[in-house]
Amino acid sequence: MLKYFGYGLVLVLMFSCNSSESTDKKTTIIDGSERYEVYQGSEMANVMRGMHAFNLQLKKEIESGKVTTEFPEEFLKIHTAEFSESKSRNATFDYYSGKFVDAQKLVFTEDSTVSLTERYNNAINLCISCHQRECTGPIPKIKKLLIK
Ligand code: HEC
Repeated sequence: MLKYFGYGLVLVLMFSCNSSESTDKKTTIIDGSERYEVYQGSEMANVMRGMHAFNLQLKKEIESGKVTTEFPEEFLKIHTAEFSESKSRNATFDYYSGKFVDAQKLVFTEDSTVSLTERYNNAINLCISCHQRECTGPIPKIKKLLIK
């Protein structure tokens, strides 16, 4: 029992900004031999996970040479979504969220002289810049989005 709970805790550490703050956001349910992870993320965490999933897909599209998507308007929720209890909107967050949205929009601009891959990586690097200041936990996962 305790052993399984330990594993659950490790997963929590991997995905939240830092260890102690959001352990209350994830609950492990053990039912016989099955173990379920129930994730109750904040509105902002959901926006972030959507941005991650979208960019993972976009990376594949850029690599295969055909982009079929547009800038997702849902990303603008970054300006209003509520954070987990331990976090809050501040000047650093607002600065980087503005720069990130601009950079992500540029990926979909057709008349740019900067290559698509470079514009895409610029946007991902802004995810990383903000995370270095606001939420370091997911950085390794975000770095995998970069196109080498
Ligand atoms: C302006 C700052 C900022 C930018 C830009 C940003 N993030 Fe985040 N991200 C955060 C903060 C703050 C949290 C924690 C939110 C919370 O706990 O409520 C977070 C949380 C996350 C999480 C964890 C979500 C979870 O399940 O708890 C992931 C993954 C993530 N961001 C990926 C990304 C990706 C990918 C991008 C770019 C496409 C990005 N972020 C851009 C600040 C940012």
